[in-house]
Amino acid sequence: MGNLSENALRILQERYLLKDKNGGLKESPKEMFHRVARSVAKAESKWAGIESQTKWEKKFFDLMSNLIFLPNSPTLMNAGTPYSQLSACFVLPVKDSLSGIFETLKTAALVHQKGGGTGFNFSHLRPAGDRLSHHGGSASGPVSFIKLFDFATEQVKQGGKRRGANMGILNVNHPDILEFVRLRVNGKPLQNFNLSVGITHAFMEAVEKDADWELIHPNSGSAIRKLKARLIWDAIVQGAWESGNPGIVFLDTINESNPMISMGAIEATNPCGEVPLLDFEACNLGSINLSKFVKGTSLDWDFLRETVHTAVRFLDNVIEVNKYPDIKIKKATIANRKIGLGVMGWAEMLIQLSIPYDSEEAVELAKKVMGFVQEESSLASSRLGEERGNFENWESSIYSPNQVMRNATRISIAPTGTISILADTSSSIEPLFALAYQRRKVLDGQNLTSINELFIKKLKEEGLFSQEILDQTMTNGSCSKVENLPEKFRSIFKTALEIDPIWHLKHQIAFQQFTDNAVSKTVNLPNSARPEDIAEIYQLAWKWKAKGITVFRNDTRREQVLYKGIKA
Ligand code: CDP
Repeated sequence: MGNLSENALRILQERYLLKDKNGGLKESPKEMFHRVARSVAKAESKWAGIESQTKWEKKFFDLMSNLIFLPNSPTLMNAGTPYSQLSACFVLPVKDSLSGIFETLKTAALVHQKGGGTGFNFSHLRPAGDRLSHHGGSASGPVSFIKLFDFATEQVKQGGKRRGANMGILNVNHPDILEFVRLRVNGKPLQNFNLSVGITHAFMEAVEKDADWELIHPNSGSAIRKLKARLIWDAIVQGAWESGNPGIVFLDTINESNPMISMGAIEATNPCGEVPLLDFEACNLGSINLSKFVKGTSLDWDFLRETVHTAVRFLDNVIEVNKYPDIKIKKATIANRKIGLGVMGWAEMLIQLSIPYDSEEAVELAKKVMGFVQEESSLASSRLGEERGNFENWESSIYSPNQVMRNATRISIAPTGTISILADTSSSIEPLFALAYQRRKVLDGQNLTSINELFIKKLKEEGLFSQEILDQTMTNGSCSKVENLPEKFRSIFKTALEIDPIWHLKHQIAFQQFTDNAVSKTVNLPNSARPEDIAEIYQLAWKWKAKGITVFRNDTRREQVLYKGIKA
C-alpha cells in the first residue's frame, strides 16, 4: 500500500470512506481499496473459479492501493455497497414532449444521486415561442428547460458527496442557438452545466467562407431563419472569452469514429466531454498514473503493458457488477460495453524525464505513450472477447466480422479532477496549474494547500534547493521569475498559463489521435487573450480533428476552483 498525501486522506475521509449513521468512519483507505477490489473481482466468478477471483482481486488491490491505477469516483465510493452505481458518465435523450422531458429529468436526478454525470442534446425541442398544438400555448424552448435541469441538479447532491454535473448541447442549426450561446443567469453561467454547441463540418466551412447559415425547425425540417454563420460564430467566441462557455463539440468528427454508427449518430457527450455516447449509454472510467512508470531516463513499458491489461479487465468487470439506475440504461450499456481507460500524471512524467511540456519532444512522446496504451487496450479487450464473448451489438459495429472485441470503446481521457488528488499527481494530460496553490470549494468551502513535491525533489537532486527559492516560488505559484535557477530547470516546470495555448492544443490532439472516445482538456489562456485568439484555437481544433474544445481565460469566473500561489 502506497503512502497517501494529507490532501488525499482528507478527501477520502470526507467523501469516499464508508460511514456509519453517526458519521463515524467504517473503513480505512486500505479497507476501501479492498472493498473495491473484492467487489470488482467478483465478476470473475461468471467465467472462472474462485482462484481466478482471488488472483484478480489481489492485482486490482495492488494497482489501486499503490496509486498506479484508479477508477472513477463512483466506483471508489459505491463498489460493494447496496447502491453500487459505478459509472461516471451518462447520456440521456430529450424528446420534444412534456412527459419525455420530465421523464429524463427524473432519470437524471437518479443518476446524480448515485454519483454519475449526465449529458443531453436539447436540439429535438421545438424553439421558444412555437405554438403548441393541443391548447394554443407557446413552447418554452430548450434554454428554459436547461435552466430547469440546472435548478433540479442543484437540489440533488450526489449522495451528499458532490453536486451533479451536466453537459447541455444545442446544435448550431437550432433556431434558439443565439439565446443558448448567450445563456446566463443573473449575468453568470449556469451552476451545474457545461454548455457546448454541436457543430458540423458544414458550419465550419460556412464560417470560413463567410456564408449564410440556415436555422432549421427540428420538427418540420424547414429553414425558419437565415443569418451569417459568422454571427453565430462570433457569439460563441465572445461567450467563451467572457466565461469559458460555450465550448464546442464537433459532432461530425465524433461520428467519423463512432464504432456503432449503424445504430445512429451520436448527439451528446458526458459532462466533461471525454465520452460521446448514444442515448441511455453509460460509461465507466479509470486512469493510469503515468508518473509511476518512469525508470531512469526511460519508461517501464512492460509494466505499462501489464497495467493496461489489468485495467481493461477491471473496467470490463465493473460493467458486470454495476447496478444501473434505470433499465434502459442497463440495456444500452451492456449491449455496447463501453469503457474509458485514460491517463493522469502526464505532466509529472514529463518533469521526471526533464522534458518541457511545450516541446515537440513532449508531443512525440504523447503519441508514443498513448499509441501504446491504445494498442494494448485493444489487445486486452480482444482477449477478453475470446474469453468472455464479444459485446452484444458487435455484429452492427465496425469490428465485425474480423476483429473480436469485448468493448465497443476502450479509451477516454478524463479530467481526473479528484482521483488525481487521491493519487497525488498532476491531473489528466494537463500541465501543472501551479507549483503551489490553494484549491477552493472542493470540500464545501474548505481550502486545500498543495506544494508540488516533485519540484522540491528535483531542486534537491540538482543541488539547487534553498529556502529563498522555495519562498519565491510559493509566493508566485511559479518558478519562472525565480533568480538563480537555470533556464532548463525553469522550462520543465512551466505552469499552465505560462505555456502558449498552441501547446495545450497540440497535446490534446496528440492524445486524441490514439483515443477512440474523446479527450477532456482545457486550453488555458491568460486574461489578456483576445476573442480572436479563441477563434483561432477553435478553428485549429476543428482542422486538427479534436472532438471537442474548451478554453478557459484566467480570472474570468469569480469562483474559480484553482488559485495560483499561496501567499499571493
Ligand atoms: O476524478 P473523478 O473520477 O472524480 O472525475 P473526473 O475525471 O474529474 O470526471 C469524470 C467524469 O465524472 C465527468 O466527465 C463527469 O461525467 C463525472 N463527474 C460528475 O458527474 N460530477 C462531478 N462533480 C465531477 C465529475
